[in-house]
Amino acid sequence: MSNYHIKHLEEYYQIYRKSVNDPELFWEEIAEEHFLWRKKWDKVLNWDFRKPEIKWFEGAKLNITENCLDRHLITRGNKTAILFEPNNPEEGALHITYNELYERVCKMANVLKNKGLKKGDRVCLYLPMIPELVVSMLACARIGVVHSVVFAGFSSSALATRINDSDCKLVVTTDGSFRGNKTIDLKGIVDVALKECPSVENVLVVKRIASKIKMHSGRDHWLQPLLDKASAVCEAEIMDAESPLFILYTSGSTGQPKGMLHTTAGYMIYAAYTFKNVFQYKENDIYWCSADIGWITGHSYIAYGPLANGATSVLFEGVPSYPDYGRFWEVVQKHKVTQFYTAPTAIRALAKEDLSYVEKYDLSSLKVLGTVGEPINEEAWHWYDDNVGKNKAPIVDTFFQTENGGIMLTPIPYVTPTKPTYATLPFIGIQPALMDENGNELKGNQVEGRLCIKFPWPSIARSIWGNHERYKNTYFSAFDNKYFTGDGALRDEVGYYRITGRVDDVIIVAGHNLGTAPIEDAINEHPAVAESAIVGYPHEIKGNALYGYITLKSAGEDRNHGNLRKEINQLIAERIGPIAKLEKIQFTEGLPKTRSGKIMRRILRKIAHNESDNLGDISTLLNPEVVARIIDNALIAV
Ligand code: PRX
Repeated sequence: MSNYHIKHLEEYYQIYRKSVNDPELFWEEIAEEHFLWRKKWDKVLNWDFRKPEIKWFEGAKLNITENCLDRHLITRGNKTAILFEPNNPEEGALHITYNELYERVCKMANVLKNKGLKKGDRVCLYLPMIPELVVSMLACARIGVVHSVVFAGFSSSALATRINDSDCKLVVTTDGSFRGNKTIDLKGIVDVALKECPSVENVLVVKRIASKIKMHSGRDHWLQPLLDKASAVCEAEIMDAESPLFILYTSGSTGQPKGMLHTTAGYMIYAAYTFKNVFQYKENDIYWCSADIGWITGHSYIAYGPLANGATSVLFEGVPSYPDYGRFWEVVQKHKVTQFYTAPTAIRALAKEDLSYVEKYDLSSLKVLGTVGEPINEEAWHWYDDNVGKNKAPIVDTFFQTENGGIMLTPIPYVTPTKPTYATLPFIGIQPALMDENGNELKGNQVEGRLCIKFPWPSIARSIWGNHERYKNTYFSAFDNKYFTGDGALRDEVGYYRITGRVDDVIIVAGHNLGTAPIEDAINEHPAVAESAIVGYPHEIKGNALYGYITLKSAGEDRNHGNLRKEINQLIAERIGPIAKLEKIQFTEGLPKTRSGKIMRRILRKIAHNESDNLGDISTLLNPEVVARIIDNALIAV
């Protein structure tokens, strides 16, 4: 298509070559041309993966909100920035223009300032998908406060862990949230969490569901009266290119979540540049990403990327199944959505329902479809292509991670021929490498190995909050001088990449990144449990589901297993959130272990995958005899 930014495959390769042959020149030109700086940089890039240390645009001064808001006001002041589509369609959509968003952000920033927040302080945003979430993120960024958005499906303990890890001084939440035909008591969850969070001085409460809640005097404040009194003028704090912008937690292989630290200039440039090119964004498009802002996809592709481009970004509070399974398509028709970006899990769930839910609506406005967060299977890909895009809107299967800040592997729509289940080619500036287990790079095509990146890109996370050593160990120690994703991938005969899945202890369930360790920790808290091991297994809708092997203490042996299963899942919901509940539980008399006492998850994974005739040599185990009994009983796991 001639009016797109990148017009054909040869042009993609030309730009790609330029971006890897001289990355500094390449990103400098993008930075010069597209963004607003208070001061230009002294040096484009300083990096050393072995330390590790990565700095982009050192010496530059800017504020990301001037790039997302102020500079659009003259030309796009009356354009819709955020198109809010509420949970209940009868409530009606809300168009928030750039002028209005700017004013709301300035007022919110002044409220935060009045509560004593200063540059460098941390604020936790525990909010549903409502405009106040985007406003609060930008308000923090306006005054140099670091935001930490915690997904509003996390439990009070998970929330407390995250608040404490980064010593947040203030929490923004709601009196409750709507989710389909249910409401959730978010403020109640915050109250429980804050019993363990001494750093929190103030809680700002958005009125959303108008429920009766308890307000702790001195600590809790309704937000609206404070906004009413606040000035609509707030000078932007001038930030360094490498000033922290936000922390976003992701699961790891130990119980403690990793607070990925993203900084300002590089993140902004990469989020904005990927947004424009991966979605072939044009000025009058209506772009919709249905992810939650509690994840990196929402940060980069609902908030910062679209707003830095002056785009209209749909913010959807609801769920795909309410009022019925046609909800997504009704919203596409109503707002004439041009780009739609969602998770494979949502597609699989909707594909199970009657086709009339899709066929009822006019989806002809759609130009580009996207998926993210987990592998998409071929069947779901075709369903999306046939029924939503009508074979006319290319699908971009985009691969990236919380740690990456922006899309790493993706087709460019109308340019890269797509191939179901393949994220295809590296985005501009991304230099992937597939490594074998001995640390050698696998050259050429038709190879499979561990996915690494050889060179920094502008939005790579710079550290783990408060634990740089863990950052080094997790991402830069497995392979010398390379960033390791934790994923396996293959490269086919034309150089297209396909993600084959995690090679560590992280399991992607319905697009949510779950570490096995925190779930096992939660299970082991149950008084009847001796020990446990969690593995993933294929699930029709969620992609993967969790299978727990649990050994009971003798005191637990006589208990009703039905109740125990419920209690264990209840405990997981309390400690982490309902997303981490186990789909199957098998009580075992022991777990297979190496002689050094390490649980052999590889064997348990094979059993859960129904591949128990292919376990390899188990004779070296400490307790090979338990394996046969686990296999026999696997059939009765429920
Ligand atoms: O395993 C990969 C999977 O999701 C992981 C990252 O999860 P998170 O940090 O929560 O970020 C998700 C949203 C960007 C990756 O390590 N993943 C992500 N996108 C894809 C994917 N797996 C296959 N195909 C994808 N397109």
